[in-house]
Amino acid sequence: MKKVIISLMLSLGVSAAVQAAGDAGAGQSKVALCSACHGANGISAAPNFPNLAGQGERYLLKQMTDIKSGDRAVLEMTGMLDAMSDQDLQDVAAFFAAQTPGTGAADPALVELGEKLYRGGNTAKGTPACTACHSPTGKGNDLAGFPALSGQKAVYIAKQLRDFREGDRTNDGDRIMRDTAEKLSNKEVDAVASYIEGLR
Ligand code: HEC
Ligand code: HEC
Repeated sequence: MKKVIISLMLSLGVSAAVQAAGDAGAGQSKVALCSACHGANGISAAPNFPNLAGQGERYLLKQMTDIKSGDRAVLEMTGMLDAMSDQDLQDVAAFFAAQTPGTGAADPALVELGEKLYRGGNTAKGTPACTACHSPTGKGNDLAGFPALSGQKAVYIAKQLRDFREGDRTNDGDRIMRDTAEKLSNKEVDAVASYIEGLR
């Protein structure tokens, strides 16, 4: 009998933990404010506003937590997450993660350099290949904390790489992206960002 109760408690404990994660349906009713910039389904209308559709759930939750706490400065979103509880943020993350990702096209003039960097890095400068973490198709690895990049707006991607390079974005844990972007030239930033927008 005792054993039955213990295993019942264990399984209840497990399902409670699963339920504590985001609910995409509930999230949909919490994103009205966000859609002005990020689009109702997470495909944004402007090149400097990132798509959120199909981004990894954990990554989305981490960014919202960082933006809310100020660890990542996003002026356009000042105060917007203050009234959101942890559960709200989890629901919103689950909602955007469940949407169909965006697609884009690379600038043919930049594709060669962009692909070279993305797939092989720049050995002479010690820049690692992006594929190592963000995967060959750019879908990332959410469990490992590596965001999806494919189809993301090139203007947004380029700004993030410059922000990591200049130290204006510092929420990348143990400097993974600051060290990666450190030696990228502006030409390399623009090329790899354009290549990423065309990835699928
Ligand atoms: C006025 C426009 C605006 C509104 C409204 C807005 N955002 Fe943003 N958001 C931005 C901009 C701009 C960035 C990127 C800033 C940068 O360049 O680093 C961003 C970044 C993000 C990111 C990080 C994306 C990534 O790939 O790292 C998340 C997540 C996010 N917003 C969620 C939300 C949510 C949730 C809401 C609604 C509660 C919201 N945003 C409302 C403009 C907006
Ligand atoms: C060793 C693993 C690793 C490598 C290699 C790597 N990245 Fe990243 N990248 C990350 C992690 C982790 C993050 C998320 C940081 C955070 O949590 O804010 C990230 C974030 C990013 C972002 C921000 C995404 C967003 O939505 O805001 C861009 C852009 C990016 N990486 C581009 C690149 C490019 C381009 C390369 C190759 C030149 C590259 N990364 C190589 C691990 C890596």
